[in-house]
Amino acid sequence: MYTKEMLESIKKVEANRVANAELEPRRMTAEEKETLLKTYHPDYKTDEFRVLSVGPNKGEKVPTELAALLQGKSRINTADIDLSKVDYDVDVLVIGGGGAGSSAAIEAHEAGANVMIVTKLRIGDANTMMAEGGIQAADKPNDSPAIHYLDAFGGGHFAAKPELLYTLVNEAPEAIKWLNDLGVEFDKTEDGTMVTTHGGGTSRKRMHAAKDYSGAEIMRTLRDEVLNRNIPVVDFTAAIELILDENGNAAGAVLLNMETEEILIARAKTVVIATGGAGRMHYQGFPTSNHYGATADGLVIAYRAGAKLLYADTLQYHPTGAAFPEQIFGALVTEKVRSLGAKLINVNGEAFMHPLETRDVSAASIIRECSDRNNGVDTGSGKGVWLDTPMIEMKGGEGTIEKRIPAMLRMFEKYGIDIRKEPILVYPTLHYQNGGLDITKDCMTTNIKNLFAAGEVVGGIHGRNRLMGNSLLDIIVFGRNAGKNAAAAAKNTTVGNLTLNHVDEFAKEAEEYCSGAVSPMLLPDYRNK
Ligand code: FUM
Repeated sequence: MYTKEMLESIKKVEANRVANAELEPRRMTAEEKETLLKTYHPDYKTDEFRVLSVGPNKGEKVPTELAALLQGKSRINTADIDLSKVDYDVDVLVIGGGGAGSSAAIEAHEAGANVMIVTKLRIGDANTMMAEGGIQAADKPNDSPAIHYLDAFGGGHFAAKPELLYTLVNEAPEAIKWLNDLGVEFDKTEDGTMVTTHGGGTSRKRMHAAKDYSGAEIMRTLRDEVLNRNIPVVDFTAAIELILDENGNAAGAVLLNMETEEILIARAKTVVIATGGAGRMHYQGFPTSNHYGATADGLVIAYRAGAKLLYADTLQYHPTGAAFPEQIFGALVTEKVRSLGAKLINVNGEAFMHPLETRDVSAASIIRECSDRNNGVDTGSGKGVWLDTPMIEMKGGEGTIEKRIPAMLRMFEKYGIDIRKEPILVYPTLHYQNGGLDITKDCMTTNIKNLFAAGEVVGGIHGRNRLMGNSLLDIIVFGRNAGKNAAAAAKNTTVGNLTLNHVDEFAKEAEEYCSGAVSPMLLPDYRNK
């Protein structure tokens, strides 16, 4: 499968393997990291961002592609929408059928609310399903939520909202217990102890996993629970605008049936946005590890209704996206590969960085190796560096790869690459939006009453960079809390007259800045690419 040049480089990787496996490359200093990030991390490329001219974050910069959608044209003409004809009338409307939306729906249902999920694809078609490496929780004797907090706060450049991060780490052990009780098959030793590993930037082994399909296993369990409870799920139906009531409170959504294009109206006492991320926006031309539906829809509809964003200018580029073969370009190569001992190696066979620096630092370091340092391997469609997977079995013994990361083994096996024997080529891939809707501790958006949010659509939990395994954790912790709080708020809510005036008002303000893009995007368009 590999080209002649790649095989030449692999000889150098093999020659240095034993020495590289023993080598502990030093960690970068804070100053070194700062310089590296400013020079090589995509978040610092000023010409790739645009300052918003309208809306609650007017004056702040966001990726150019996102600005076009946030200030874009609505998919509806409000004059055509009859808000008196309500198709669904519920207590809690959950928009999004991934891990956060499902957790919210389960808890709202548990609290006795009449809850419904709408999702533009099918329940479970979400980034949760794609997550591989694991979920963090400080539940071992040598660990504590306080240590977890310090790791995540530092890793996020001290920018996380303290009250959100506090909730995340303190409710983590209970989140694991909840999932375990629901039936998630976590990796355990024979006596039932959870197996935990390190992730980048963690000072303790607190990554709980189900091999390297942790997200799929969690999503399988949550989806079963939603279906077992008979919570209504309206598939292939996207929320394309939020509906407010005359008091300015969230009160439902305009829905689009993706198959028939019929417009439907959902009225709700409270709304939970759990629409996930934005990898399919392919910011700066990056490939993505994300699900097909990750197109920033929740940010767009909430922004148009007046919700504030936090840190929408910061994205996560996962250091190890597959760089070769082209068929899997950008697909996630879990950080767990490095947790288990594989190191990043350049074209000359040199281990050029500590394998478990935080993600932004690791990604920037790989970009530097492949650009200014000219130490990347030519992949045919770009550059990449080696991730020396055979080191895993050297350290952990034969069978470790099959046992701990079978999905990785299979993904490369399909293309004739045996990762037990050969290294693989990787390059950063767009993985996660660090920023999103600004929420309070109870998951309500900071400036729209009865509009709750959970999961990747939220900003501020992780600051300006997220550690591995804290996203699967936040969808559970904040998904559950959003569901409980939305159900509680619904009990004290009487919905006023429905309105879409905010859509017209926003359109008027945005008219001179609108590039003509219609939003939300809903699905990426790869025609002509
Ligand atoms: O590398 C990974 O398995 C990804 C984990 C995450 O984004 O939390």
